[in-house]
Amino acid sequence: MHHFDYIRGTLYAEGVSINEIAEAVGTPFYCYSSATLERHYNVFKSPFPADTLICYSVKANSNTSVIATLARQGAGADIVSVGELRRALAAGVPADRIVFSGVGKQPEELAEALDVGIYQFNVESEAELHALSDIADEKGVAAPVALRVNPDVDAKTHAKITTGRTQDKFGIPWAQAESLYALAGRLPGIQIVGIDVHIGSQITALDPFEAAFLRVVEMVGRLRKQGHDISRIDLGGGLGIPYKSGNTPPPHPDEYAALINRIVGDLKTQIIFEPGRLIAGNAGILVSRVIYTKENGERSFLILDAAMNDLIRPALYDAHHDIIAVDNSDPNLPLHTYDVVGPVCETADTFAKERALPPLKARDLVAFLSAGAYGAVQAGTYNTRPLIPEVLVRGDRFSVVRPRPSLDALLGLDVMAPWLEETAK
Ligand code: LLP
Repeated sequence: MHHFDYIRGTLYAEGVSINEIAEAVGTPFYCYSSATLERHYNVFKSPFPADTLICYSVKANSNTSVIATLARQGAGADIVSVGELRRALAAGVPADRIVFSGVGKQPEELAEALDVGIYQFNVESEAELHALSDIADEKGVAAPVALRVNPDVDAKTHAKITTGRTQDKFGIPWAQAESLYALAGRLPGIQIVGIDVHIGSQITALDPFEAAFLRVVEMVGRLRKQGHDISRIDLGGGLGIPYKSGNTPPPHPDEYAALINRIVGDLKTQIIFEPGRLIAGNAGILVSRVIYTKENGERSFLILDAAMNDLIRPALYDAHHDIIAVDNSDPNLPLHTYDVVGPVCETADTFAKERALPPLKARDLVAFLSAGAYGAVQAGTYNTRPLIPEVLVRGDRFSVVRPRPSLDALLGLDVMAPWLEETAK
């Protein structure tokens, strides 16, 4: 469910016309809906016990206004870098609602997170456990730790976003988990508080979750017998969202919640989640203008002003995003088949092949749906294309929550090597 709908044949984000935003900020741009963000957060949270902590996975969309919108609903944050830590704090997420994930946390990052007093470190290796112990001990504090275990379950998602198999770099190998808990129990500066698991992203079936969570529950039983205080269970993120209209949608969050309440309900632990895509994915669109159309006899190309540097998911994961015309006053017009491409000099800069769309011409606007997660955050400046603006809508208001940098600002990031400035002798 989202709040991007046609009103009298033209696309709106909540109460704001996309045409109006395009006139004001230029194209391309990302546009997010506050009502959709809030709705997704609350739909996800409501079936769980009141003390459940939903740590929005900031990597999915780390615009501070997006994080702040969720923080005001009570969301915590799942972070993977000190940069994300500072964003979450700047957006008003209390430190005691922040969990720190990731395989390569650096000593300075661990130190800063300890200084601000985050809720939990999800530790992914023995080496990281030692590093955290040393730093916390030196500071005279105890780091609240959950070990991220790798349950060796295939999440059956795209190979580039599966994380819970033995061959993946994530988590502590299942067979080592108990000995690492024993070590954590002995190390100074470490306070064991729980266990953590995250098996991948865009997961569209419940059985991988079920298999992983059942294993984790068994592990909690063993750890408790060994005397560890496991009072929190962090089940990660990963529940998929619908990307393609007409396809069977992934399980509803209520079905996911029923499964979890059944599996972990008796453990008497606080439950933590780290959803990213489920909250932000369908709360954002990418709006782009047609530059040219081109026919080569065999195919029709729709050449847009957005490119793979703005939205890399199709190039990187063969991801499908529905594309719609912003103005579609006559939905009965016969559709035309386009290859939808950007201006970047790579064949990979193809958003969609043979996509049926209403007939479009230069200057028309299109919108990529489900672009709120892993869209703007994965953008780059390839082909010297500045990052594109982000716009947040709330009701009938909109605000540019990240402006478009000028080309001068982009060029100004480079520094000329001094020897190139010397006059030729
Ligand atoms: N927790 C951890 C430890 C994670 O690594 C991730 C995502 C999440 C939570 C949030 O997962 P979500 O609920 O969003 O599925 N760039 C890729 C997705 C990469 C996901 C990385 N980790 C894409 O565009 O599909």
